[in-house]
Amino acid sequence: MTALFTLFQLGPLTLKNRIIMAPLTRSRSQQPGNIPTRMNALYYAQRAGAGLIISEATQISQQGQGYAWTPGIHTPEQVAGWQLVTAAVHEAGGLIFAQLWHVGRVSHPALQPDGQLPVAPSAIAPGGLAFIADESGAPQLVPFVPPRALAIEEMPYLVQQYVHGAKNAQAAGFDGVEVHAANGYLLDQFLNSSTNQREDAYGGPVENRARLLLEVVEAVCGVWGAGRVGVRLSPLGTFNDMGDADPEALFGHVAERLNAFELAYLHVVEPVIAGNATTETPDPRAGAVLKRIRENYRGTLIVCGGYDAAKAGAALGGGRADLIAFGRAFLANPDLPERLRVGAALNLPDPNTFYGGGPQGYLDYPTLAQQRGEQPMPDCGGFEPA
Ligand code: PHB
Repeated sequence: MTALFTLFQLGPLTLKNRIIMAPLTRSRSQQPGNIPTRMNALYYAQRAGAGLIISEATQISQQGQGYAWTPGIHTPEQVAGWQLVTAAVHEAGGLIFAQLWHVGRVSHPALQPDGQLPVAPSAIAPGGLAFIADESGAPQLVPFVPPRALAIEEMPYLVQQYVHGAKNAQAAGFDGVEVHAANGYLLDQFLNSSTNQREDAYGGPVENRARLLLEVVEAVCGVWGAGRVGVRLSPLGTFNDMGDADPEALFGHVAERLNAFELAYLHVVEPVIAGNATTETPDPRAGAVLKRIRENYRGTLIVCGGYDAAKAGAALGGGRADLIAFGRAFLANPDLPERLRVGAALNLPDPNTFYGGGPQGYLDYPTLAQQRGEQPMPDCGGFEPA
């Protein structure tokens, strides 16, 4: 048995293994209202064999929403929906953190309060297309627009949005929260030089670009206690049109500064991953940046990015990481820990059903026992097809 299957003490929580379910956007919340459902609860409960589940990215405000159909955690109805999810996961013996999300510029007026512009550190539009729904609810891809640069007076309001999400995550019964500072969303936009051209206390040197993240982390730790708060970063990530002039200095600094909080963990998306896809040619600076983060960060480190059982065992054994997160493999294998333990083949994920729709490609990936005919195949009954 490899280190993957040993217990791990994560702050006050004892994880039953070192396998983390990575946050995965599935865009299946109830409309209108972006409310988690019984179907979502069953999906997460199917995956409760993880040492810890991190929820899909969940907007902390309407301003923080960037895609049609993603769930929120800012209204009472959404909190009630998440209560179904956390209760189902706990009933199945699992643990689950909520990922707190503000997308910044990766949005569109159609998703924003009163049709306003999305907000960002600087008025620089990402390349690419926004995913919205038209008046009839049909999906549409439309060009991004230049966001509105946030005024310095708005910074406390941003921090407040995270506090609101953190408090709602407690009311919803989560075991902790992860601050999403990766993949080109708001906090990552502040960190990276390509998206942050501010000349005030939140722009310029790395100390200033990290300021909003550190303020958010401090405030969220004030709600939860640091032992139940994680932070996710994606150094060298290019997803959502990102880049930084000196990523080793930037992420080395952030990792160093995060030590002081004594967080549950730091979660690093390795540069082999760009959003929902694997990159063929990862940035050649990746090794140096990841090494610097590991050297500078003294707490628990989760890594994520195309791991299999052998690579995971090597990363744990070599001390490169303490916990390993699996995304697409967990999406397609509800019993992923068991499959890794016995060395079984994995179901392959179907990208056509990643986002939106009903139980197909969501609840119906079989477990090993189901494939062997020892248990009935997953029951999608009671849930509407897409
Ligand atoms: C996505 O919707 O593709 C997505 C969302 C959040 C992430 C990454 C990708 O952090």
